[in-house]
Amino acid sequence: MNIKEIIAERIFTKENLVFLLESKGEDRQFLFESSARVKKNTISDKVYFRGLIEFSNICKKNCLYCGIRSGRSDLNRYNIDDEEILKAVEFAYQNKYGSVVLQSGERDDIAFVDRIDNLLREIKRISNNEVGVTLSLGEQSKETYQRWFESGAHRYLLRIESSNRELYSKIHPNNELHDFDKRLQALKDLKEVGYQTGTGVMVGLPFQTTEILAEDLLFMQSFDIDMVGMGPYIEHKDTPLYEFRDELLPKEERFDRTLKMIAILRLMMPDINMAATTAMQSIDKLGREKAIKVGANVVMPNITPGQYRDDYFLYDNKPCTDDSAEDCKNCLEARIAITDHEIGYGEWGDSKHFYSRKKD
Ligand code: 5AD
Ligand code: SF4
Ligand code: FES
Repeated sequence: MNIKEIIAERIFTKENLVFLLESKGEDRQFLFESSARVKKNTISDKVYFRGLIEFSNICKKNCLYCGIRSGRSDLNRYNIDDEEILKAVEFAYQNKYGSVVLQSGERDDIAFVDRIDNLLREIKRISNNEVGVTLSLGEQSKETYQRWFESGAHRYLLRIESSNRELYSKIHPNNELHDFDKRLQALKDLKEVGYQTGTGVMVGLPFQTTEILAEDLLFMQSFDIDMVGMGPYIEHKDTPLYEFRDELLPKEERFDRTLKMIAILRLMMPDINMAATTAMQSIDKLGREKAIKVGANVVMPNITPGQYRDDYFLYDNKPCTDDSAEDCKNCLEARIAITDHEIGYGEWGDSKHFYSRKKD
């Protein structure tokens, strides 16, 4: 089959997905044009803002790729207090960002669970229920997910990181805390509780083949996910996975693969929400704009108070660490203007897929 047939007839077998992921020249261009068209026709040319608050880098996990893993004893650990978090929410509200994302390292102690619960209620209260809240707080019990849902969170991001069990075990310590089956179960729980559920993978990991990436795409489709965030893997020098730095694709190729993953998934799942991630920008100065052009429709301007940004380096070369919430807003407005998209100010910008999936 040629690329035109694959795309026109939407035959996304694993073999065809590998073919699309490895496309070059005119084929690659055709892929990007097709995904851009599908996006415009299905979900319009709006881009939604989610104000991202990275409120703590304290994490009980020890993922082998991550710059804030618990094994790093040299890192300054912070935990932004509620008052400051609410100030950031206020900024998002006043600037008409439809929603905020609360992200932190993973913790599941009672104090933490209670705290998030209170915080959610406060966010809803100070914004007259208008600010939507997405959580990105890792694996929790189903009861915790349920509690937070009832307190006002309605979307949850939990990347599977890789849907390939073997690769998952190579990039995580092999212990109970980093169990692939538990992660899968957490994703199922989120869906059952009723969240708009997001997942995603890192692209360009050591040992990751295009076959594995094709499986990731099929996983997201069969899991019927509502939102996706994918970004290139960027090695961090103070992590164990840095050992394999010489086996990685050049950064530009990891970036290109991520763009293709976004474009292909837009063809496979036209009405989901997909983020143009910060990691894309750390490789290519126009990374997020490029992602928007080929299929992404969500960006997450950082609204974390400036003084903490230096301690949330998940990977090297993370952008925006010297900028304020206001800087990121202005910067992104200008960037989105050049992509010919419109910013959906004052709207939640929910995943259309979530509602069509609910109807079935
Ligand atoms: N490179 C790219 N992304 C990373 N993340 C963590 N470490 C890295 C890295 N070195 C991503 C993971 C996680 C998200 C919060 O950040 O996918 O889910
Ligand atoms: Fe913790 Fe998330 Fe980093 Fe893993 S990726 S160490 S869970 S912050
Ligand atoms: Fe933060 Fe550009 S988005 S400075």
